[in-house]
Amino acid sequence: MAKLWAGRFEKPTNALLDDFQSSIPFDQRMLECDVTGSIAHATMLGEQGIISREDAESIVAGLNTILAEYRAGKLVIDMTAEDVHMFVEALLTERIGDAGKRLHTGRSRNDQVALDVRMYARQANMHVRELLLKLLDVIISLSEEHTGTIMAGYTHLQKAQPITLSFHLMAYAQMFMRDVTRFEHAYEEADVMPLGSGALAGTTYPLNRERVAELLGFSEVTDNALDGVSDRDFLLSFLSAASICMMHLSRFCEELILWSTNEFGTAVMDDGFATGSSIMPQKKNPDACELTRGKTGRVYGDLMALLTVMKGLPLAYNKDMQEDKEAFFDAYDTLINCLPTFTEMLRTTSFRKETMYESAGLGFTNATDLADYLVGKGLPFRDAHHVSGSLVGKCVRENRALTDLSLDELRAAHPSFEEDVYEAISLEACVERRKLRGGPAPEAVKNSIERAKAWRANHPTEA
Ligand code: ARG
Repeated sequence: MAKLWAGRFEKPTNALLDDFQSSIPFDQRMLECDVTGSIAHATMLGEQGIISREDAESIVAGLNTILAEYRAGKLVIDMTAEDVHMFVEALLTERIGDAGKRLHTGRSRNDQVALDVRMYARQANMHVRELLLKLLDVIISLSEEHTGTIMAGYTHLQKAQPITLSFHLMAYAQMFMRDVTRFEHAYEEADVMPLGSGALAGTTYPLNRERVAELLGFSEVTDNALDGVSDRDFLLSFLSAASICMMHLSRFCEELILWSTNEFGTAVMDDGFATGSSIMPQKKNPDACELTRGKTGRVYGDLMALLTVMKGLPLAYNKDMQEDKEAFFDAYDTLINCLPTFTEMLRTTSFRKETMYESAGLGFTNATDLADYLVGKGLPFRDAHHVSGSLVGKCVRENRALTDLSLDELRAAHPSFEEDVYEAISLEACVERRKLRGGPAPEAVKNSIERAKAWRANHPTEA
């Protein structure tokens, strides 16, 4: 395709450079944004009398036809074009003649690409937010089912204290609610209109920047042309939100993988979300979880890639910045691939309540409560901790549980023990007593579920 900037050159670009610098293979996905942005720009140029009304109308009509053909899957994209912006402009001019050549008045590809990426980023943020809210709905409804399902809670992957499955799941609900907020912030950052920045120093034409922002639904316009063309913070915010979100998904996946092992045996993935082995007939592998965990690395990589691209760039636009798109699109594609799969996988996973309960009873998860019991009888916590520890030591040596010890054996460690100790250190009592806001007691978790539902009601989704 002929170069629209070829005026000052004496020979055509080398074919190697043509291929090397072309971004159309990946930026063609911004075509809708590009055309919509150009329609707004041309409309404003016409309104301001910078170009004639007739030219503006002819440009808008031509662009609308291109958009309609694209949406119908009928537009043939010229892969020899330098980028999507050049492709659209050249195609328009080919179709409508000289008016097409007036479209780029008062605009540079630098502010044009900034606009397109911001428009695309707004959609991407909204899309990921929707998918996260759907995941949140599944977590909340599973949590409502399991407020009484006792399981072991861990620190250092060693059994720690009894909790409930609902409490555990709601911990992830908190993470995903924060993720939603992060994507909403990333949206707000993207929601600033850069046209009018020109190449770097604004423009001499009397553009109406606010009008373009209004036509494209932007909340604000950028306030410095140099920054307007060289800022990619809004993509970095998307990529950091994406990285943190993938980290949350990955931790959740790791736990589901662990819980699906023969050793834990507390979660059973639906057959539809597991795969078999070509050699070992018994295998049922949690591939969806493993892949999600694995793909987390590439999203971190995308964030690192763009941070590194940006770190040494002098103001304003540098072609290095063309590298922003593949990182951004890759992270976006990865998220919208992982989230629905993970959501459905989680929704169809079943949890083995009995195994969870039995497992919570092992490993002295009630040793803290045994100490707390003695504190209730007047001992200082440090002394109570020591007595409880010595009883744990005895049980470890004799391969017994704390509840297996007779009252005499308990009293040999400290005379304050009475018959009510057994009730006090039952798993149910251990959980129920932790009813402070944020604790695992069923009533506390029910309250936290109610708060999450109220939050969700304030975050409506489209569908
Ligand atoms: N394809 C380019 C990009 O993605 C568009 C901006 C090009 N600007 C320029 N001055 N060469 O960044």
